[in-house]
Amino acid sequence: MSIVEKFMTMDYGPAPEDPREALTWLERHGRRFGHFIGGTWQPPVAGQYFDTTDPSTGEKLAAVAQGSAADVDAAVRAARAALPAWQALAPHARARYLYALARQVQKHSRRLAVLETMDNGKPIRESRDIDIPLVARHFYYHAGWAQLLEQEFPGYAACGVVGQIIPWNFPLLMLAWKIAPALATGNTVVLKPAEFTPLSALAFAEICQEVELPPGVVNIVTGDGSTGEALVKHPDVDKIAFTGSTEVGRAIRKATAQSHKKLSLELGGKSPFIIFEDADLDSAVEGLVDGIWFNQGQVCCAGSRLLMQESIAEKLITKICDRMNNLRMGPPLDKAIDIGAIVARVQLERIQRLVDQGVAEGAICWQPAIPMPSRGLYFPPTLLSNVHPTSVVAQQEIFGPVLAAMTFRTPSEAVELANNTVYGLAACVWSESINVSLHVAAQLKAGVVWVNCTNLFDASCGFGGYRESGYGREGGREGLLEYLEPEWFKQAPPLRFVPPAIDQPPDERVDFAAPPIDRTVKLFIGGKQARPDSGYSIPVRGADGRLLGEAPLGNRKDIRNAVEAARKGAGWAKTTAHNRAQVLFYMGENLSQRRGEIAERLAAVVGKKQAETEVNRGIERIFSCAAWADKFEGTVHSPPFRNVALAMNEPIGTVGIVCPAEAPLLGFLSLVMPAITVGNTVVAVPSEAYPLIAGDLYQLFETSDLPDGAVNIVTGRSAELLKVIAEHDDVDAIWCFGDETACAAAKALSVGNLKQVFTNEGRVVDWFDAKQGEGRWFLQHAVQVKNIWVPYGE
Ligand code: NAI
Repeated sequence: MSIVEKFMTMDYGPAPEDPREALTWLERHGRRFGHFIGGTWQPPVAGQYFDTTDPSTGEKLAAVAQGSAADVDAAVRAARAALPAWQALAPHARARYLYALARQVQKHSRRLAVLETMDNGKPIRESRDIDIPLVARHFYYHAGWAQLLEQEFPGYAACGVVGQIIPWNFPLLMLAWKIAPALATGNTVVLKPAEFTPLSALAFAEICQEVELPPGVVNIVTGDGSTGEALVKHPDVDKIAFTGSTEVGRAIRKATAQSHKKLSLELGGKSPFIIFEDADLDSAVEGLVDGIWFNQGQVCCAGSRLLMQESIAEKLITKICDRMNNLRMGPPLDKAIDIGAIVARVQLERIQRLVDQGVAEGAICWQPAIPMPSRGLYFPPTLLSNVHPTSVVAQQEIFGPVLAAMTFRTPSEAVELANNTVYGLAACVWSESINVSLHVAAQLKAGVVWVNCTNLFDASCGFGGYRESGYGREGGREGLLEYLEPEWFKQAPPLRFVPPAIDQPPDERVDFAAPPIDRTVKLFIGGKQARPDSGYSIPVRGADGRLLGEAPLGNRKDIRNAVEAARKGAGWAKTTAHNRAQVLFYMGENLSQRRGEIAERLAAVVGKKQAETEVNRGIERIFSCAAWADKFEGTVHSPPFRNVALAMNEPIGTVGIVCPAEAPLLGFLSLVMPAITVGNTVVAVPSEAYPLIAGDLYQLFETSDLPDGAVNIVTGRSAELLKVIAEHDDVDAIWCFGDETACAAAKALSVGNLKQVFTNEGRVVDWFDAKQGEGRWFLQHAVQVKNIWVPYGE
């Protein structure tokens, strides 16, 4: 064919990337890798290895150690041993190490990109232009945080030894997301890469040697799920950071419930890609290519559900099919390839199975007639239309190049469809109307919303999910908090408070008529006083054993009613921050007016001195929350693109709060007030030692213009009510401040819908000390950050 003829067809010729340097590197290691522990390569204790292969050819790349519990233990010991010296370094010294890692990643960027593509199957264009540059950016960004740590996070300390488990879809990038913030904050690390893609992590281990990172600061143990499990269960690990499937995330939540391990989970998604009729359709289609065919759709935030406004659906589908006809599938090392290989046969089969299921449920499957490579693991770009919103392909994460298309008529219908999933990782909104875009973005339950753009990431912008997409953020200031703890909290002793017994069985109730009874309270649900469903009360006694009154014995039904009322009270979140501040100030004023009588009643349980202090501090605490209400604001990030990212502090939703027994008034206020300050609604179980405080509290709420349902109070046996709250699917977060058993129960029982869990880890919190009892620590747990990316500027 002549050049002129070629020019006329505009066909691509092969443009393969040279793999020699990556292959030489593999050869240099004899194509066999041990674990990287304590700065050196260690053979696996059990002597077992497994192969990692190139999914585009099926060829073996190297043998990699299968980590056993003994290997994990050796790595954790190395990390523990390295911790004191690493923490003793000046922030500037740690910053220099992170900077050196960034520089070294850049120097080896091409080798790393090639290695990543060979091990994972992703197009070299993506590993070269997206993955590896972002890896370097993460280390640079966090070098900066290491430098600023003491100035910007006074009073915070590193968690300690951190176990990190990452998936195979962005192997080195996920490593960077995990290791950079952990090191910047002074932790040491044991990281387990995914079994399908361990090579770039091992190449990174060598980079750690090259920059002379102190031995043991970073340890890499390879292996499968059992190795991950051993890391999760290791008793000397202080925090687990996990990215992967929701199923494994749940197992990890359960496995860590009995421990004090801090946990962050970045899990699956089924992200909506919403296109309104006024969108720039050609740009939206290009966005969609990045949304669902980037990395073969093996992306946790893939825009896998296309929601099109009905009026443009037909036109849009035609454009999408045209574009799909022009996608190029093939060997991922070819620089002109759009779609590479699927990571492993099991994943390929999973994709096919889900597509078949979707078709059986009525979806229409369309695939372009583009050339498929004759060998290797490939799945063609796929469009499923006529998809019912409840179909498996609209609900389950497929993790492949498969788009499920649906239509909507109005913006509110779009929001409803978009949120009709258990996940909440990301979303895209395409509309030329800024009003529509931002109005919809605000209503989407997702940690990231891209307006007129797709799949943009930056180290400065926190990434993470709502709902069953997990909790915690990676990137940004909020990402650092996942690796830090308040110093006082780390050192707090175990709580030994034993509440006075109130849990006599109802049939053994004390004779009601005998001693003088001060008062009987009711439950407080939806702004009204309510009798308990059980029809029973429990006697409440003072410190001297005197009967003070009766509190309702709340049960499952009462909690359910309270949750329903709390969800109905969600309008509280939409009131302005100024309004919330006003209500809180008013509450403080009203508590102040009634301080004498409330303190007098409380004194019967906690003594006069504590009672007076609780009331006085309680007023201050409410004022502190009122002060924060219009100041706990978000941030505007300036990532290195033509974009801003609005990091909004959004309420989590309905928070179930089990209050501490030991400071009945102050403990309640210290938890419930910050939760409502940022717009959550609450179902609270007051102190088991003195549930009668509920009566004083609801009188306070009733007289302070707090909207119905914003705070609901159910008294009773804390452990029983905790279980009901933790298992309730309409509760979005659980805060439990009690003993070790209660905290472990909150974590273990909340796995159903993966509630965010905040506890005192069974430790003492000095509610009388403002440093411990109020401020950002509580507010940070009361919000989830949503990053809304908006194109901006030249
Ligand atoms: P996975 O969740 O099983 O694997 C992720 C990581 O966790 C790997 O390093 C694995 O070795 C480790 N792991 C597995 N079981 C473990 C356990 N019990 N304890 C500790 N660590 C454990 O994901 P997998 O099997 O590779 O993929 C299955 C599906 O999960 C995919 O089809 C996709 O839908 C989803 N997935 C989602 C990801 C995301 O980023 N959201 C990433 C990877 C997979």
